[in-house]
Amino acid sequence: MDCLWIEGGKKLAGTIEIPPAKNAALPLICLSLLTDKPVRFRKIPDVQDILSLKNLLGELGVQSTEPGLFHCPTIKSTIAPYDLVRKMRASILVLGPLVARTGMAEVSLPGGCAIGERPVDIHLKGLKALGAEINLEGGYIKAKTKGLVGCRFVLDFPTVTGTINLVTAAVLAKGETIFENVAKEPEVVEVIEALNKMGAKIDGAGTDRLLIQGQPSLNGIEWTIQPDRIQLITYLAAGAITGGSVTCTPYRHSTMNSVIQKFSEMGAKILERENSISIEAPRVLDPIDFETAPFPGFPTDAQAQFIGCLTVADPAKGSSTVRETVFENRFGHVAELRRMGANIEVNGNTAVVKGVKELSGASVMASDLRASACLVLAGLKANGRTKVRRIYHLDRGYEGLESRLLSLGANVWRERE
Ligand code: UD1
Repeated sequence: MDCLWIEGGKKLAGTIEIPPAKNAALPLICLSLLTDKPVRFRKIPDVQDILSLKNLLGELGVQSTEPGLFHCPTIKSTIAPYDLVRKMRASILVLGPLVARTGMAEVSLPGGCAIGERPVDIHLKGLKALGAEINLEGGYIKAKTKGLVGCRFVLDFPTVTGTINLVTAAVLAKGETIFENVAKEPEVVEVIEALNKMGAKIDGAGTDRLLIQGQPSLNGIEWTIQPDRIQLITYLAAGAITGGSVTCTPYRHSTMNSVIQKFSEMGAKILERENSISIEAPRVLDPIDFETAPFPGFPTDAQAQFIGCLTVADPAKGSSTVRETVFENRFGHVAELRRMGANIEVNGNTAVVKGVKELSGASVMASDLRASACLVLAGLKANGRTKVRRIYHLDRGYEGLESRLLSLGANVWRERE
């Protein structure tokens, strides 16, 4: 297993390029299941989650003979087996397209994970509303239908992958579908834009309500995937915690206004240009309060990185209160941060962070993707050396993290344990 060593104390400065978004790429690649025409992306993220999904899609009949090309002339299998799904929860994204194109699917039920139970009940209720018969047997979701039919369905919660699963089913259903209380995340909007370019008829992207006119078939597409806003936020946070100045490009405006506001409240200067965004951080950050929420609220995927920054906020200005409302168990980073000297109290879904003058390097364990990023940030600030273990979590979603941090002046290296 690899670990990451960080020698803390360097102010980060410079410009880095942000890779395409994993959470957009995962559902976009699954669109290849909806058409017998090729689906092509200019660049796809080079991270473990994408490799896991490519393996699964290969089983289902998607040919990928060159980088970025996905082509599924016929569906070879409608079964997403446990061994492939357990590696990555987002494998559930094949469910909607498989049912829409073939009328059947057997997808291993994703289990819980480090951050919560993560049920998929809303995905299944929505598919039932579209006319699929759903049974849970032997750990599998078994779906079948003689043909999906448009419906009206209100999601209990604006789930991201749930919204995408349902939209990718409804685009090939007969007639009109209305979904209400849908997710508005930029990645959801991008999938809808891509589907419309493939010939789908979906109105309302980025609002709470989608109106879909089902089509008999869809075309192929060529597409450029948007930059990863969560990696971008992580690098800005690296600038913030080290008192540095970091510029990220490319940048898509209006995808992170809630985060920009919170960086500003911490005393950092944010500068948005046409295709880039920069942070200039003060020597010491101010404490802030925030709570996570579905888009356009503050992203739960950036909560850990912000807590990392707040561990060294000015104690003379009070403490920070952070409330996690999206996942029930997303403070895995807190116990590890305490081992580096952070002062954090957790009560239910609320963490109170009192800044300390210094963090000290320690050996810490990554528990999930964003918690790992938070520990790297703390290591960049800490005195001495930090060893972040189990960084396979980081490799699921951060492409070239070490090289990017090195180019910003950090002292980091990977080692096999
Ligand atoms: C996606 C992102 C993940 C991000 C999350 C929230 C991908 C691949 N992953 O995950 O990085 O942290 O959105 O922004 O895009 N829920 C239910 N029933 C359901 C579905 C969800 O109760 O059927 C609950 C979940 O348990 C969770 C909340 O809804 O508490 C949000 O989950 P959801 O939006 O579905 O997250 P994901 O799509 O899995």
